[in-house]
Amino acid sequence: MLTRPYFGIAKQPRGFAALLFVAALLPALVIVPAMLSDLFLGSSWLGSDATKAGEHLLGKWTLRLLFATLAITPLRTLTGWNWLAKHRRTLGLFAFSYVCLHLLTWTFLDVQVLVSEYVGWADVWKDLTKRPFITIGMLGFVLLVPLALTSTRASIARMGKRWRALHRLTYVVPILGVIHYLMAVKKDIEEPLLYGAILATILVCRGLIARQRAVAP
Ligand code: HEM
Repeated sequence: MLTRPYFGIAKQPRGFAALLFVAALLPALVIVPAMLSDLFLGSSWLGSDATKAGEHLLGKWTLRLLFATLAITPLRTLTGWNWLAKHRRTLGLFAFSYVCLHLLTWTFLDVQVLVSEYVGWADVWKDLTKRPFITIGMLGFVLLVPLALTSTRASIARMGKRWRALHRLTYVVPILGVIHYLMAVKKDIEEPLLYGAILATILVCRGLIARQRAVAP
């Protein structure tokens, strides 16, 4: 049985929302300018392959933010900090923004469509369909789109039960993300396995909470 220890922060600490916003935005504010500076101004903030390094960092931050979104419910249940719930949407939308940056980096800096005269949209399609890890990443992205589009209060009110059903995809997307990561790295799988273990822990906690809620009078 899960307990609900209470650590004495019944109300959201002042400035928490702003702090969370800045913390989620900061990695992008560092990664994107560093990548562009390396590529176009000759600096080397991200090492010898700025495109790959930036692409990897943006992918990892997508996963971290997806995990943070999923971790809110277990954290709330364990701590009693119910005010955390209202930050789920912010974290989810940040995860979506990071995956958009990851996708843009892949399209225009990695594959170089429209950037290189030798690359066309047919090459993008070839990569998407012939490289299974990219297909899985794309599936994760496509599933995130309806979640982002229906994250407003109006959508929740309008869609009712259908909203809950649709938002079960929040479990599927990070699973696809971890599989995509595992397939992308080929060897050195320790880090993606660690991400997988963190995700499994969050999902088990959520499962326990859901079961406890189902049996509660
Ligand atoms: C929810 C969706 C996604 C997540 C969570 C995600 C996450 C990640 C992560 C964690 C990495 C590995 C970083 C590393 O090796 O350090 C990665 C790599 C990569 N991802 Fe994604 N990704 C997603 C979607 C996509 C999409 C839509 C594309 C392109 C269509 C894509 C293309 C790539 C590429 C090209 C790499 C680099 C592989 C290499 O090392 O060559 N990803 N992604």
